[in-house]
Amino acid sequence: MPIFHDKKLKNLSLKMKEPAFHLRSLLQDKERCAALFYEGGGLYLDLCRQNMNSEVMVTLTEKARERGVRQSFQDMMAGLKVNASEKRAVLHTAARNPGAPVWVDGNDAAAMLATVLRKIFAFADAAHNGEILGSAGNRFSHVLVVGIGGSRLGTEAVYEALKARHPVWLPLVFLSTIDPNAFYLQTRELNPKTTLVLVVSKSFTTREVAMNQKMVRNWLKNSGVEPSDHMIHVTAKGSPGDCKQDICRDVFHMFEFIGGRYSASSAVGTLPLSLAFGKDVVERFLAGCREMDAHAAQAPEEKNLPLLAALCDIWNGEYLGFPAFVMVPYAAPLLFFSFHMQQLYMESLGKGQTLSGQPIPPEKQAMLCFGHIGTDAQHSFFQMLHQGRGAPVEFIGVLNSPLEACADVSGHGLTPHEELWSNLLAQADAFALGRREGRPEQLCPGNRPSSILTLRDLDANHIGRLLAYLEARTVYVGLLKDINPFDQFGVENGKTLAADLRKHFSGEVPSSGERVETYLNALRQGFFRDQEPKR
Ligand code: F6P
Repeated sequence: MPIFHDKKLKNLSLKMKEPAFHLRSLLQDKERCAALFYEGGGLYLDLCRQNMNSEVMVTLTEKARERGVRQSFQDMMAGLKVNASEKRAVLHTAARNPGAPVWVDGNDAAAMLATVLRKIFAFADAAHNGEILGSAGNRFSHVLVVGIGGSRLGTEAVYEALKARHPVWLPLVFLSTIDPNAFYLQTRELNPKTTLVLVVSKSFTTREVAMNQKMVRNWLKNSGVEPSDHMIHVTAKGSPGDCKQDICRDVFHMFEFIGGRYSASSAVGTLPLSLAFGKDVVERFLAGCREMDAHAAQAPEEKNLPLLAALCDIWNGEYLGFPAFVMVPYAAPLLFFSFHMQQLYMESLGKGQTLSGQPIPPEKQAMLCFGHIGTDAQHSFFQMLHQGRGAPVEFIGVLNSPLEACADVSGHGLTPHEELWSNLLAQADAFALGRREGRPEQLCPGNRPSSILTLRDLDANHIGRLLAYLEARTVYVGLLKDINPFDQFGVENGKTLAADLRKHFSGEVPSSGERVETYLNALRQGFFRDQEPKR
């Protein structure tokens, strides 16, 4: 039974809304604050600004223990077919643990993944050493990654984060949407003769990928380059893209037992990241993921960081009624983790029924999530979160400063990094404490929850821990809500309607009525019929 029908938690949530439990009072309780500060898996999680007392967290972890979610997580890592609707195992964790055999349908998934990883490292080395050249005999200087959703977002989040700490061998350029503006913008700085193209698609049936691949193929051909010498496919074994013939130079496999949005540590991510940063950095990234996976699977409920974060999501969403949470990394290199989390969290947990088909009332469904970096968010949507409709904020901070050289530019003897942290902590306290002095329009109610996730550094190992933490937290919310966090059937309807509309647009089938006609005509004429621009 999902966790959101618990009477005791319901009563506690009503109690927590009483003035006596305003965060202004709760933060006075040093013991409580110390009890809600956690360290595990190489990360730190500070929950003392959550609208909860120790009794709430104890009750939540008891519920998690009763429901055996840690055992379910271990079952997932052991290769059980936990993706019930697609009858698949879920083994993104095996991609970063090549030495631990995991058997699926009589095959050792970890060994299959390890074989691909060795092939990836050899290919990246050869590209870096100039042993692999373009059809015109040039060394490759850039990598164009054609892929969308899970075949882009996780890789891009890790790539942008690692650039802050690790030198780049071959810069990555990402192309996903079907919008031709993107093709133009992403290729105009590239030289086709020195561009290696990775076409990344688990299914190799995604429309955007097929169309962008065609546009890139023409772009290469028109520049006198033999496209198949510049193209590599990354796809699920047996997909339509799992063929070399004269289409591409090579194919690197990912597998059906790895979900797109969980695939950044499979070939989907490790091939582009190895070309960008090399084997050593990628191995450290995978080690960080692996260490967080071990923590997520083995740490007891009350010390398990991804599970505690998941329990906070259940508490904030289902008991305190927040419709969304906001992820705000106070580290510019982590900007794309907000976009990755949007897909990871909402494509996994945006479900209206439990595994047994029980409808979930809208107010009990998982929260939406969005995000941006700090301090930019302070000058963007924080006004709403301070005085308007509030939402739990997930701050992410990094202890180690990026640039030692960054001297005191603040005039207060503070480095910019310390200035950044003073803002993060000030915002977290401003949400909690609010403001009671001043003119009415200046007052803030406070009692707005937030948590602070802290990484020691932005190196490859910690970025691996962060990625695996967000994946495990998402899976734990799914297990606690008794939903399937691994399928995404809801995305199909829009694709089917788009396929039908294409037939109308192409005149293959007669028009489907007024609403579409209006836009079709406007597209063709460049204006809507009664909006003809005045000459
Ligand atoms: O449409 C949603 C989706 O299927 C995502 O789940 C996936 O990450 C993305 O499209 C891309 O899919 P593929 O890697 O098969 O091209």
